[in-house]
Amino acid sequence: MLKIDKLSRRFGQNMVVNAACVEIPDGQMLGVIGPTGAGKSTLLRMISRLIDPTEGRILRADVDIAQLTGRDLREWRSDCAMMAAQFNLVGQVSAMTNVLSGLLAGMPHWRTKARIFTPRERAQAMQALARVGMAHAAQQRVAVLSQAGQKRVAIARALAQQPKFLLADDPAAQLDPQQTADVMAVLRAINRQDGVTVICALGDPQIAIASCDRIIGLREGRIVFDGAPDALGRAQLYDIYGAAGYAFIDAPIAMEMVSAA
Ligand SMILES: Nc1ncnc2c1ncn2[C@@H]1O[C@H](COP(=O)(O)OP(=O)(O)OP(=O)(O)O)[C@@H](O)[C@H]1O
Ligand SMILES: [Mg+2]
Repeated sequence: MLKIDKLSRRFGQNMVVNAACVEIPDGQMLGVIGPTGAGKSTLLRMISRLIDPTEGRILRADVDIAQLTGRDLREWRSDCAMMAAQFNLVGQVSAMTNVLSGLLAGMPHWRTKARIFTPRERAQAMQALARVGMAHAAQQRVAVLSQAGQKRVAIARALAQQPKFLLADDPAAQLDPQQTADVMAVLRAINRQDGVTVICALGDPQIAIASCDRIIGLREGRIVFDGAPDALGRAQLYDIYGAAGYAFIDAPIAMEMVSAA
């Protein structure tokens, strides 16, 4: 269980996440939805400790993640893989090398400097690539892969660090509907088969409805919805997105394949 307790982040006068409270049970697939600028990425970045909260706590078994430093913080970063929206792959090197870099999250400093990988670690990286259907591309430079292929490599990199939490910031960005469904199905499989808690920031509620166990809706930094996907109706979409929320209701649902996968 991860307990987010009155978590806030301010940038200057701008209260970007405002006293967020959520209890996330282990093994849940949670979607964080909301319009652009609502604070989705900021919430994920606080949980992964890429940025510090201004106020509040992130409790895991009574330990406040927000206060961790040194080795404890490194351990958390190893347990909690973050897939950024730009997914921060290195285009000029192979998919394999990118995935191996995911292992650095749990390594002592001298190993990360020397960049020595054991055969076991290479096998682990290869397994992660196979898991996302990219074993064939292990030796290809990431830059030559499609957007969807790059996303899969980013998931493999997160997977290679064998995290307990996987945070995916806008995993659907720049993908077409079929590619989005495929990527969400990969995340769903990791969640289901490995019991990894997955937290996805998603702009489009349809994607969250099709793939998540639970959804929280952010508007201007506040959680205005927290519930099951089927509880997300017209009124709730309005609370989250304003009138723009209605556009999602009539949009065709092209995501059945996610749950089927
Ligand atoms: N480092 C920063 N410095 C100043 N303001 C920031 C910073 N990071 C985010 N913000 C502001 O915080 C607000 C929320 O940003 P955030 O990226 O969390 O939104 P989001 O919900 O992820 O939006 P999107 O759907 O566009 O990704 C925005 O107004 C943004 O400009
Ligand atoms: Mg964002």
